[in-house]
Amino acid sequence: MNNAHTTPLYVVVLAAGQGKRMNSALPKVLQPLAAKPLLEHVLQAAQPLDPDKVIVVYGHGGEAVQACFEGRKLTWAHQAEQKGTGHALAQALPHLSAQGIVLVLYGDVPLLQTHTLEQLIQPARDALVLLTQQIPEPGGYGRILRDEQRRVVGIREEKDASPQEKQIQEVNTGIMAMPAVHLSKWLERLTCANAQGEYYLTDIVASAVADGVAVRAVQPAHDWEALGVNDKRQLAQLEAIWQRQQAESLLCRGVTLADPERLTVRGTVTCGRDVMLDVGVILEGDVTLEEGVSIGPYCVLRNCTIGAGTVVHAYTHIEGARLGPDNRVGPYARIRPGTITQQAVHLGNFVEVKNCTIDQATKANHLTYLGDSSLGARVNVGAGTITCNYDGVNKHRTQIGDDVFIGSDTQLVAPVTVESGATIGAGSTIVRTAPAAQLTLSRSRQQTIPHWKRPLKK
Ligand code: UD1
Ligand code: CA
Repeated sequence: MNNAHTTPLYVVVLAAGQGKRMNSALPKVLQPLAAKPLLEHVLQAAQPLDPDKVIVVYGHGGEAVQACFEGRKLTWAHQAEQKGTGHALAQALPHLSAQGIVLVLYGDVPLLQTHTLEQLIQPARDALVLLTQQIPEPGGYGRILRDEQRRVVGIREEKDASPQEKQIQEVNTGIMAMPAVHLSKWLERLTCANAQGEYYLTDIVASAVADGVAVRAVQPAHDWEALGVNDKRQLAQLEAIWQRQQAESLLCRGVTLADPERLTVRGTVTCGRDVMLDVGVILEGDVTLEEGVSIGPYCVLRNCTIGAGTVVHAYTHIEGARLGPDNRVGPYARIRPGTITQQAVHLGNFVEVKNCTIDQATKANHLTYLGDSSLGARVNVGAGTITCNYDGVNKHRTQIGDDVFIGSDTQLVAPVTVESGATIGAGSTIVRTAPAAQLTLSRSRQQTIPHWKRPLKK
């Protein structure tokens, strides 16, 4: 099925470990990195390889893991007891066919790049291929053993290593690929006669050497790719690396970042040229920023499109909205789902907009709530205007025509229509249609009491 090779490809993700050191009720592989579970990152790196099957070996918190990936094309293999990585891979054996290539990934190694995985599976048709890495402080990792000809002959786990072997700086990342045809016999030969009493997958290297199967080592393109997550500190480190990569990618696409260290991306960003992002911006879900968009400090944008040349000022939240070109939004505006604006719309400070269509050049500059409304072009919404869209049971719409002027502190009690060119006097409560091109107001008359005196203190 996969186009890189005619041999079937099986991806096995080992994800049964408990992750005790996370100190969390959430299974380790569901911990979020850039708002997505660790396991999701692993699956997304493998997906472009077009594998014939993806088998997830699960154990701890299994139901939660399966529920999180419900409806996905995954094969689940249960490892009831965690008896080591070799034992874990053995649980996937019933799902493999002998002709295939097997790629072993870890559910808690989320930053691997597809390119690196390709390097691993290409030679794996007739060799056992290990992803190894030089690490100055290799403590904790399995060490790669090589003979005088520099051929890989084995992997020694830290706990089983001699002081001399502990000096070795080339480590096993755990990621490997091999022809499926050898796997079941190699796994059968594993014993748990080692310091941890576990079935080490790493021991298959010695088997490959004994069977005359070549063992190769390839290295990841970046030294951070094979980093694993065991605790919240490492999770934070990987998050920082991931975010740095997002920032790099935006910079390469011509985005100006006030500070690449102070941008957070939790999704996919599509960007035009000359976009500017100030510090503390958070972009979530699918965000499109067209050419020349400027986003001020500490804005949160989720699943939205911002039209060319639009300026979003500080501390603004935008979700599920599509803003037109040359809009001015914020500071401190909240634009909620279902909002669609045309050109040159202004939504100022403390303005909340939900499920509204707003035509060009319309302005609501201060302290306003617009909900379930359609506003025509060139409308001026005065400060403190509220659409009363909710009667406690149902939501109702407010229709505002072109060139309407709404005086400050107006309540529009929906369902209600303000026709084109109407003017609403400040302080009005509008409950019926305000006719076109006329002044409508509802306001008790101002009076002055003559000769009135303030009471005096007794
Ligand atoms: C393993 C390697 C070691 C390597 C290191 C890299 C072995 C014996 N050792 O060690 O050479 O340097 O990874 O991080 O393979 N898992 C299961 N079931 C189990 C045990 C583990 O599914 O019974 C999964 C874990 O969820 C995890 C992965 O396998 O995703 C690795 O397990 P872990 O215990 O972290 O491996 P290490 O002992 O650190
Ligand atoms: Ca272990």
